[in-house]
Amino acid sequence: MQLTVYPHIEAASLRAAHFIAEQLREKPDTVLGLATGSSPIIMYRELIRLHREEDLDFSQVTTFNLDEYCGLGPDHTASYHAFMFEHLFNHVSIPRTHIHILDGLADDVEAHCAAYENAIRQAGGIDLQVLGVGVNGHIGFNEPGAPPTSRTRVTALTPQTRSDNALFFDKDEYVPQHAITMGLGTIMDCRACLFLAFGERKAPAVAAMIDGPITDKVPASILQQHPRVNVFLDVAAAAQLTQPHS
Ligand code: GLP
Repeated sequence: MQLTVYPHIEAASLRAAHFIAEQLREKPDTVLGLATGSSPIIMYRELIRLHREEDLDFSQVTTFNLDEYCGLGPDHTASYHAFMFEHLFNHVSIPRTHIHILDGLADDVEAHCAAYENAIRQAGGIDLQVLGVGVNGHIGFNEPGAPPTSRTRVTALTPQTRSDNALFFDKDEYVPQHAITMGLGTIMDCRACLFLAFGERKAPAVAAMIDGPITDKVPASILQQHPRVNVFLDVAAAAQLTQPHS
């Protein structure tokens, strides 16, 4: 893993955005895997700025999002569809037909998951996958216990994850109990990963992922076996690391 620790979230996020921009300038038809949550928001904001002010072109980019809540349609404000359009897609030149997000309302979920895996393969595989991490070490919605070879599927969310993500829902709203997520095997197939974690709440998961054993109790620890992972942390998220880092 290539690990860099920044003084604060803003600096790390800008660097991460520039990392993506370099990838897009080298390969304009990059297949990007994208993540939601608080962690990538500033990075997406900087990508929008680079698009507007420095001609960063998204017109040939294809995207696949990691996950979506079961039961939420694209119009639901807490859906990952809505998140992605608000924070990125409405502001850059990605053609709508290049955007892939799992459908939380799919009737035949199994067929939908198989079609998603197939679409990733048809696109030539994911060049760069953006990842955040849950406080319990989940990536995508691969919660502790997720099999290392898992593919896109429906998964149950832990009470911890549902309570952490409640901030994206209205106060009295019910956080879904299930989600559809790319599997750990799907994520491990991508050619490179860009991993973001910020804040002291993430410090134990970050330490377990980087310094701990590879275990299904900490799904993110599987990334130790991936050949190309760039980790962007702020000082708070790096606080419990025991290995030397820059
Ligand atoms: C959610 C998403 C993950 C994300 C994680 C961390 O559960 N499914 O893909 O990485 O939350 O979110 P945040 O960045 O808000 O801490």
